Amino acid sequence: MMFKFAARTTVRIGIRFSSTYPSSSKIVKSADEAINGIKSGDMILSGGFGLSGVSETLIDALSKRPDIKNLTAVSNNAGLEGKGLSKLLESGQVTKMIASYIGMNKKFEQLYLNGSIDLELTPQGTIIEKVRSGAAGIPAFYTPTGVGTWVQEGKLPVRYDSNGKVLKTSKPKESRRFNGRDFLLEESIYGDVAFVKAFKVDTLGNCWFRGSSRNFNQAFGKNAKLTIVEAENIVEPGEIEPENVHLQSIFVDKIVQSIKPKQFEVIKFAEDQKSPEELLESGNEKEIKRYKIAKRASQEFEGHNSANLGVGLPNLSAAFLPEGSNVLLESENGILGMGQHPKKGKEDADYVNSGKETVTLVKGASLFGSEDSFGMIRGGNIGLTMLGAFQVSANGDLANWGIPGKIKGMGGAMDLVSNPKATKVVVVTEHTNKKGVSKIVENCEFPLTGEKVINTIITELAVFIIKDGKLVLTEISTESSLEEVQKKTNAKFIVSDDLKEF
Ligand SMILES: *[C@@H]1O[C@H](CO)[C@@H](O)[C@H](O)[C@H]1NC(C)=O
Ligand SMILES: *[C@@H]1O[C@H](CO)[C@@H](O)[C@H](O)[C@H]1NC(C)=O
Ligand SMILES: *[C@@H]1O[C@H](CO)[C@@H](O)[C@H](O)[C@H]1NC(C)=O
Repeated sequence: MMFKFAARTTVRIGIRFSSTYPSSSKIVKSADEAINGIKSGDMILSGGFGLSGVSETLIDALSKRPDIKNLTAVSNNAGLEGKGLSKLLESGQVTKMIASYIGMNKKFEQLYLNGSIDLELTPQGTIIEKVRSGAAGIPAFYTPTGVGTWVQEGKLPVRYDSNGKVLKTSKPKESRRFNGRDFLLEESIYGDVAFVKAFKVDTLGNCWFRGSSRNFNQAFGKNAKLTIVEAENIVEPGEIEPENVHLQSIFVDKIVQSIKPKQFEVIKFAEDQKSPEELLESGNEKEIKRYKIAKRASQEFEGHNSANLGVGLPNLSAAFLPEGSNVLLESENGILGMGQHPKKGKEDADYVNSGKETVTLVKGASLFGSEDSFGMIRGGNIGLTMLGAFQVSANGDLANWGIPGKIKGMGGAMDLVSNPKATKVVVVTEHTNKKGVSKIVENCEFPLTGEKVINTIITELAVFIIKDGKLVLTEISTESSLEEVQKKTNAKFIVSDDLKEF
């Protein structure tokens, strides 16, 4: 069995709360009681990634307390309309969000763009590290993430007016060189309240998280003055093995039974997954073009034993991995060793990937919190990262997280490109945008994800590498020509002496 605990008896209390645990003063009877003590103006750290590992019961209770307002919420994203943290945005209780990603939440986007809330867009790995370090008694730290971008320059729009004019921007960051590289000074976060969703908590407050639902929960739970845990299962002390305690009892102040069901964001089944042959044969012209790019991109796995793939086209390349390949796929929300989508009926809301889709694990996979995930990313332990692009410049700058007036957030992208000496960074993209304009440019005009970070660019027409700051054409598609590549590329490039076909 995958789970050691599955065979054990689980004591469910909560709705049928009785005097089973008179010794614990941490257990409260209801979410209403659990949120007592939260005040207007508080900073709330809310765990979860997408809709996975979100404290739906606590958020729901707080959304029914309109007297508690002017909240600052720290969370990777804000759920979806009517779901997760979005409830507190929609009720008008949150005036400031610290998040990495707006994503598909239209309400969140509107509230930000029409000047109803402040948004401090913060790279995903920086959010979790600000919380982790705050919890560990460290007031600030230097990170490579965001160097040379709006994060460093202080150009991120924080507040708009009702006409969409930027009223307030972020503050520029101090930088400092260590070992020949630049780093940004980031200050820690100190939360007033943390909402933590656990699969199991014992009556003392020791928590165990299941699957990829640990994400932000573990570090958030250690940080705040008031940590409230909602759990699916409340068990006796000792039922969670000491070495399996992810969040220790001393951090936890209140415990309540979770009564809201877990939610799925994107359900995907193995049955929906096509083989490489099927992919290349089926589909329309546009799809086949994408599959061809993904197929070429899959060659980049060679020589690497781990990879992080961006949602969409980069991720598609995994479908072309040869059978028996032992590349471990990392998912930024806390999985090393991502497998296929589950078979129908085996979907599990605690197992999702960075695209919020249901996934399984391969044999030998491991699970961790976001603080460790971004540690391995910035630390250079992931051999390869492949991402999409809005624009990529001849000297290797990447812009892939926003275009002025249409900002979705950088998510983990700035972290993923933050250590290009150790992690090979490959752009996998269509050669031109929807209007037929080259995505490869002399200089990026859109806000950067990273400066001089790209090693290789793969499109349906060509493969380029960036060597000593110069763009070099190394391969041309058999269905294209040097003339076409020249015509469709808006940047100067050198043609390799050893030009190949693919
Ligand atoms: C809202 O909360 C912030 C942070 O606690 C505080 O500085 C500010 O004065 C509050 N604003 C109002 C209108 O209460
Ligand atoms: C801003 O957008 C939200 C969400 O759609 C809406 O409820 C609110 O009325 C809008 N406010 C303004 C000032 O337009
Ligand atoms: C990732 O690729 C797999 C095929 O390998 C596909 O089934 C899945 O839908 C893709 N997910 C995303 C988010 O692109």
